[in-house]
Amino acid sequence: MGGLTYFDFLAKFGVGGAHPGGIQLTQNILSSEDITENSYVLDAGCGTGQTAAYLSQQYKAKVFGLEINPIMLEKAYSRFQTLQLPVQSIHGSIEEIPFEEHTFDYVLSESVLAFVDKAKALKECYRVLKKDGRLIANEMTINKRLSQKEETEIKNFYAVDSLLFEGDWYQLLQEAGFRNIELKAQIHALSHGNHAPEFNFSKNFEPELFQILNEHGNIVIKYHDILSYRIFTCTK
Ligand SMILES: C[S@@+](CC[C@H](N)C(=O)[O-])C[C@H]1O[C@@H](n2cnc3c(N)ncnc32)[C@H](O)[C@@H]1O
Repeated sequence: MGGLTYFDFLAKFGVGGAHPGGIQLTQNILSSEDITENSYVLDAGCGTGQTAAYLSQQYKAKVFGLEINPIMLEKAYSRFQTLQLPVQSIHGSIEEIPFEEHTFDYVLSESVLAFVDKAKALKECYRVLKKDGRLIANEMTINKRLSQKEETEIKNFYAVDSLLFEGDWYQLLQEAGFRNIELKAQIHALSHGNHAPEFNFSKNFEPELFQILNEHGNIVIKYHDILSYRIFTCTK
């Protein structure tokens, strides 16, 4: 596959709302938080900036989109420019967030923590949150033990070092220092819910990326009873 990854596919296709449940689920979750125009919000791993733009439009919050992938970041930046939104786009990693401690009222991770050094990134989210600040995370989980072969297949596809059960996430959040850890009730397969993805294609992209799209579809179907996601909210 010439070293191309699932993230190259997401970036070159410019997939917006690249998390289970899509923007509808995001809107739903955000509506039960107390976000105002005075809130400082970090969308960590903002992708093409769909959620960040929504936070700015809907709540007039002070929004910062952090992204490690330059193609994603460029697409997020041009979205904010086009919509004339005062959202800052910042290049950097959730594992080393380029902000002072106690900066944000909210940190969002919509399908980002699952793909990085989770403990390190959670420590960083905790550090940059103000006291009583909130972390909202929508992350991949597994529901059953996998055979070695199955586990390797999924880990290789997503280039992740571990696949976590709900309880593992809970423990990691606790270890990072978070309290009031809550799990949103609905649990669905990874494939459920995002029926209206948004695309912002790059002018040139490798045809092999269609293979990755295909492979992703196959994984989501093959492991529909194993791969799912959880929404955690918690407080510093
Ligand atoms: C599954 S996508 C989700 C994007 C966006 N949150 C959304 O819901 O549309 C994961 C995103 O995390 C970004 N990412 C991966 N590793 C990262 C890191 N260490 N720091 C910041 N962003 C990262 C990827 O480039 C990608 O845009």
